[in-house]
Amino acid sequence: MRVLTGIQPSGALHLGNYFGAMLPAIRLQEEGEAFYFIADYHSMTSLTDAAKRRQFTFDVALDWLAAGLDPKRCVFWRQSDTPEHTELAWLLSTVTPMGLLERCHSYKDKVAKLADGDVGAVNHGLFAYPVLMAADILLYGTNVVPVGKDQKQHLEVTRDIAIKFNNTYGETFVVPEPRIQESVAVVPGLDGQKMSKSYSNTIELHGEEKPLRKRIMGIQMDSRTPEEPKPDAEKNIAIQLLKLLATPEVAADYENRLRAGGMGYGDLKKGLFEQYWNHFAEFRARRAELASRPDEVRAVLADGAVRARAVAQKTLQRAKANCGLG
Ligand code: ADP
Ligand code: TRP
Repeated sequence: MRVLTGIQPSGALHLGNYFGAMLPAIRLQEEGEAFYFIADYHSMTSLTDAAKRRQFTFDVALDWLAAGLDPKRCVFWRQSDTPEHTELAWLLSTVTPMGLLERCHSYKDKVAKLADGDVGAVNHGLFAYPVLMAADILLYGTNVVPVGKDQKQHLEVTRDIAIKFNNTYGETFVVPEPRIQESVAVVPGLDGQKMSKSYSNTIELHGEEKPLRKRIMGIQMDSRTPEEPKPDAEKNIAIQLLKLLATPEVAADYENRLRAGGMGYGDLKKGLFEQYWNHFAEFRARRAELASRPDEVRAVLADGAVRARAVAQKTLQRAKANCGLG
């Protein structure tokens, strides 16, 4: 079984990325041949600061490695080191119906968020984003793609493109399946929406203790008094996050106390911070250690690029031959 996923270096990674994509991917290292990459080409659709992209790329590498990605068990690299992705994206784009891309929620949401009439801000890369993503996946004969729920539609687009290409030019690509873990399909952010780098509502995996504590203590809650029972305790953001960060017993204890009444939101948030901080103690230590050896991290990515490229080149060659190119 071949497993593949990517994360964009468009900002600091957060609990949504960790529980939605990274942790499932790290577990899958044990079950199949894993290919994990940093989607720096994709980040160009939203980030235009070169220095930031370079920094975020390195930070994403540190986060993945500190979280338990093992470069001996998987191939870990930077997308732009395998230019086959952009070449295959062109071949795929010629069998991709415009309507398929026009229907993508993530594209439509981004356009809707732009200032009225600012069509100049909608770049072609943003529109063609799912085609590049399909190339990422199809180049490696991927069977399984661990992602959060927000990527489900992009996976459907990838499947449609693979099927269309196979029908047009003969059997070329494996048609992949998404792997979405329902329990963490959407990790809520500080404001209750999906936690996302684009909504400024994240709890990051890595950072200084003080500002992180402040962010968690700043989660908006309703105005009910501590004494009031809260029959809807399971909907509380802190409770939902505790279920990911604490042991089931500890999370259930907080939920029951909130439901019964008598625990204030301040105490709940303090508890959440403690659980969060402890959960990532080992991660922080490993990350600090890796950060002190940047050359080793770069060497891991360089080695990954060589291994990824060997696979990508073969697939691209086959796809080109099937189209009558080369
Ligand atoms: P962001 O929305 O913060 O920009 P990305 O789009 O780079 O995050 O997502 C990288 C991976 O993390 C994807 O697989 C995505 O589905 C997953 N992911 C991101 N946010 C969440 C979330 N709030 N809950 C679950 N998974 C998430
Ligand atoms: N679109 C994904 C996201 O924003 C990142 C990504 C790019 C990806 N290429 C991929 C994920 C290939 C899985 C497989 O989260």
